[in-house]
Amino acid sequence: MAGEKTRIAVLVSGGGTNLQALIDAQGRGEIPDGEIALVISNHPGAYALERAARAGIETAVCPRAKGEPREAFEAKILGALQAHDIEMIVLAGFMAILSADFVARWPERIINIHPSLIPSFCGEGFYGLHVHEAALRYGVKVTGATVHYVNEIPDGGRIIAQKAVEIREGDTPEVLQRRVMEQAEWILLPRAAQTVAKRIRMEREQ
Ligand code: GAR
Repeated sequence: MAGEKTRIAVLVSGGGTNLQALIDAQGRGEIPDGEIALVISNHPGAYALERAARAGIETAVCPRAKGEPREAFEAKILGALQAHDIEMIVLAGFMAILSADFVARWPERIINIHPSLIPSFCGEGFYGLHVHEAALRYGVKVTGATVHYVNEIPDGGRIIAQKAVEIREGDTPEVLQRRVMEQAEWILLPRAAQTVAKRIRMEREQ
């Protein structure tokens, strides 16, 4: 409906610090064109669900049972998105790869945060701490984070924003992960969410 904020679903799998950054930014009025209306986790025990509940945001749990076809898993997610009139999806530490069919339904309406400077250390198998382990193993001196649109290629969609973070002598994957989150992810993701939410709202109002 014209005038209303873009309804956002955040998809998570774990701790949810990026979800928290979005919730905090929304609380400070920094996402004026969007509203986090739903948080979906594929893991029932994800701490991110508690963060959502504490913020009064509706949650849904859509696990993928062992041996369950991906279509059935994605159908559950789509059902939750439709039930909440979602217009935009933010992947914030969501550790499942969405099918080409799924993403084709949401062209330039799904964004993802990835903890490296794409095209380095990205694609299948590069997630969470593994990304930082790979960066340290390679010996790069600068890493960072990227927010990008999600298409059928893992971490291959158009880049929206990037921020560089320096690697320091003696960094462990955990220390580096924390620095990338603090200096890049938690800043970039809410800003990108606002940019995309604004575009979608304007498109709806045209
Ligand atoms: C974040 O570092 C995020 O960039 C990364 O997982 C972490 C989730 O932390 N995502 C990926 O690696 C996706 N390929 P969080 O649950 O605390 O937001």
